[in-house]
Amino acid sequence: MTAIDVVIMAAGKGTRMKSRLPKVLHRLGGRPLLQHVIDSVAALHVRRIVVITGNGAEQVEAAVAGWPAADGKAETVFVRQEPQLGTGHAVQQVVPVLPDDGTTLILNGDVPLIAAATLQSLVERSAGKRLALLTVDIPDPTGYGRVLRAGEAVRAIVEHKDASEEQRRIREVYTGFMAVPNASLKRWLAGLSNDNAQGEYYLTGIVELAVKEGAEVTAVKAPDQVQVDGVNSPIQLADLERAFQLRQARELMEAGVRLADPARFDLRGRLECAQDVEIDVNCVFEGRVSLGEGVKIGANCVIANASIAAGAVIHPFTFIDGERSGARVGEGALVGPFARLRPGADLGPEVHVGNFVEIKNSTLGRGAKANHLAYLGDATVGERVNYGAGAITANYDGANKHRTVIEDDVHIGSNCVLVAPVTIGRGGTVGGGSTITKDTAPGTLAVARGKQASIANWQRPKKAGK
Ligand code: UD1
Ligand code: CA
Repeated sequence: MTAIDVVIMAAGKGTRMKSRLPKVLHRLGGRPLLQHVIDSVAALHVRRIVVITGNGAEQVEAAVAGWPAADGKAETVFVRQEPQLGTGHAVQQVVPVLPDDGTTLILNGDVPLIAAATLQSLVERSAGKRLALLTVDIPDPTGYGRVLRAGEAVRAIVEHKDASEEQRRIREVYTGFMAVPNASLKRWLAGLSNDNAQGEYYLTGIVELAVKEGAEVTAVKAPDQVQVDGVNSPIQLADLERAFQLRQARELMEAGVRLADPARFDLRGRLECAQDVEIDVNCVFEGRVSLGEGVKIGANCVIANASIAAGAVIHPFTFIDGERSGARVGEGALVGPFARLRPGADLGPEVHVGNFVEIKNSTLGRGAKANHLAYLGDATVGERVNYGAGAITANYDGANKHRTVIEDDVHIGSNCVLVAPVTIGRGGTVGGGSTITKDTAPGTLAVARGKQASIANWQRPKKAGK
């Protein structure tokens, strides 16, 4: 088996994106286009990945360096192409870092959905000795390089701008992917000229040079169009996004997940689902999310970096983002509608969190309830606690964050302010409207508010002349 080196072309400008962001850093399914390409290569166990950068090179290189390494990800190096004189010129820049043995697999940084299996078959067809091109038949080949054949044999690729009327009728186009033995690649690259309609060094020019030498050139047809679709414009990006989302939705449904509508489902990360999970329309999942057995997610929820245990129900319009610390929802808990769970929210089993409740960096024991309009930040809440409407933990003194401890079986009345650091003792009650600044002993009723005064026959002020 020959060693595989991967070359990813990512120097182009992406003019039609009309964006400041380099094209290959635009996101699909939450991940930059270039990251998709690098991840799909990881399965091949390659020797080295060379990324050709040019436009926005610093930004692209910094981004790649910051991505988590996929399993089996090879050493990644960068080669700058400045100025950009065509795809052949781009690959010429790689020659100094390319060993003489092995096979080079050339990919495009803006074609994100290429499957590892397709790349594998391209490498196998090349077999360490042939130039293997990935091609596809498309209804409208305008703009693409056409594959010229004599009988079965591939003779050349002619770029659209250089093609005759007759050649432009050919529907088989070059996808931008090829596998080629390193030694031959180097020799052919040296023979390229820029004598063509665009005055560029075309990588596709190596096909004719190979044929001239009597070397074998072979074509592999891509199994489906989506795998070789590139992103050149926001419209194409959105089209591919839908295709990608539909692919993910189908995989989940095949595994038994019940999606109300696969066309209204977005996964921008990884979603693990146990049996009998139901997801209503318009939900977005980001980062890493796991859903336990029988979990139900209502419509219009956004859930990121969270794990939701078996039997929990997330009602519509709930927003959960655990960011780096994660968020956890315990077995059989009910959350929402309109709830917000932030990093470090850790709800125990059977907890209820209702509308307009925000929870950050707080644990809630089994059966605790915060059903309406409340804030819990940096709090430890015991079992069966009832946290009233409008209650808040004042956890921030302007400089530091402090903890609030609410022990088991406490009732916090409506509209209370718990000024941290403070502990409400087990079984205690806090009267509605209290501002609590001192710890309370177990079993006590704490009330800290103005006493009600009643003034009889009170005359309200009147406007003059009435
Ligand atoms: C290229 C192929 C064409 C094929 C099409 C498939 C050539 C000459 N033509 O055409 O046969 O049908 O892809 O999409 O190769 N790039 C660089 N440096 C450069 C020029 C381009 O890195 O100097 C990169 C671009 O960022 C892009 C890739 O190479 O990722 C392809 O360039 P692009 O201009 O899109 O090639 P096409 O003209 O579409
Ligand atoms: Ca071009």
